[in-house]
Amino acid sequence: MTNEKRQEETLDPRDWDELRALGHQMIDDMFAHMQSLREQPTWQPYPETAREQIGGALPQDEGDVFQVYENFKENILPYPNGNLHPRFWGWVQGTGTPLGALSELLAAAMNPNVGGGNHSAAHVEAQVLDWLKEIFDFPRAASGLLVSGGSMANFVGLAVARNAKAGYDIRHEGLWNRKPFVVYGSAEMHSSLLKSVELLGIGNKFFRRIAVNDAYEIDVNALREAIVQDIANDLQPICLIGNAGTVNTGAFDNLDAMANLAREFNLWFHVDGAFGAWAYTLPEFRAQLHGMERADSLAFDLHKWFYVPYEAGTTLVRSDAAHLQTFTTTPPYLKQTGRGPHGGQNWFTDYGVQLSRGFRALKIWTAFKTFGMKKLARLFSQNIAQAQYLAQLVQSAPNLELTAPHPLNIVCFRYLAPNMTDEQLNAFNQELLARIQESGIAVPSSTNLRGKFSLRVAITNHRSRREDFDLLIEAVERIAGNLLEES
Ligand SMILES: Cc1ncc(COP(=O)(O)O)c(C=O)c1O
Repeated sequence: MTNEKRQEETLDPRDWDELRALGHQMIDDMFAHMQSLREQPTWQPYPETAREQIGGALPQDEGDVFQVYENFKENILPYPNGNLHPRFWGWVQGTGTPLGALSELLAAAMNPNVGGGNHSAAHVEAQVLDWLKEIFDFPRAASGLLVSGGSMANFVGLAVARNAKAGYDIRHEGLWNRKPFVVYGSAEMHSSLLKSVELLGIGNKFFRRIAVNDAYEIDVNALREAIVQDIANDLQPICLIGNAGTVNTGAFDNLDAMANLAREFNLWFHVDGAFGAWAYTLPEFRAQLHGMERADSLAFDLHKWFYVPYEAGTTLVRSDAAHLQTFTTTPPYLKQTGRGPHGGQNWFTDYGVQLSRGFRALKIWTAFKTFGMKKLARLFSQNIAQAQYLAQLVQSAPNLELTAPHPLNIVCFRYLAPNMTDEQLNAFNQELLARIQESGIAVPSSTNLRGKFSLRVAITNHRSRREDFDLLIEAVERIAGNLLEES
């Protein structure tokens, strides 16, 4: 050992005041950005010059944080996906909130590992889960987990379903040489469920996509017939998946009938309520969602409706024991000692895939405490009323056609250009959509409904106002008119 003083390094700033001042500037800039969204284009293409500026050789040496921030302001901030904008209604994306952004700052500054334990973040997550159970009428003894989003929430629900209904110790035995399991849902199920079924080794082939009626709701008789047929063929049905708000049109399956069928055939009942589950908070939707509260597992998002920043989804599982049995593993290095930071009841890591977990719960907790459930429910209602308003605009325009029912917050429609075949109409509407998106006025997305390429407006946006939908329809008419003139 020498007596030389060692120069040990850290990533904390050399000058705390300087970085603090930059932090204050960042907050000012981000608030200015969020406040002026309405004056910005909804989306614009990412320029090659910006792509070059964010690149370069792998940085080996220290850089200047002020220059890095300037690079962010010039080459990253102006070219977002657009989902914060009042006229972004593509896919089903969330807007976040300024409060949510601040909450993320607090969560990242605390930076706890919420795998579990006896510390504030774990208690906040447990509290948030209790509120979510209360909202969806799940028993207090049910378990829950915050996850990255609806896809992971579906995966967790289906993993528990598979293990609980396998009828043997699948964690030990694996899937080797057993009867094939079968999972059922409607043809309108979200692709994340297919991913889950594939990853869980059940196989796409055993994922029954049951036909839907004209309202895009599952045909319960056809579902029953498929179950009976599969049992007769010596397969092992394990799980029914109900939709509370399908991704294409926002349709609700008959969840009550599905819950009855699940009970009759001793199957797991999982509900994908990514955004639609939140309609449960509105009395006028209770009847349609009847049966959801009987689900064995319920998956939903908080980064779509509920409006917190990405990422946040939840799985609730009625049987805490089944949930725990699917995921718990306790190697000696994780053994809980009952005391210290490793003590406590909240061991989220035993309920999902991740060991290390971030503090997702804080932005949800601040939203509950600051906005309150009543205001959030009013915003869901507002989005649904806006969808109905847009549907009326479409219906009263002679050259527009609704292409599906609009029971919730999604409106699908197309432009009916004269004297065109269905194929030509599809190509015309596809070009129309691209031009609307590229105009920066609004971002709807698309889907194909019974062969009709449709513009699809999914409203989970607390910034939209009715006048934004007037602007959309004006843009559709004008851009379609230009397109017709060109042809
Ligand atoms: C009905 C439905 N389920 C699941 C998902 C997947 O959710 P996430 O995008 O949060 O993974 C979506 C996404 O839009 C959805 O609409």
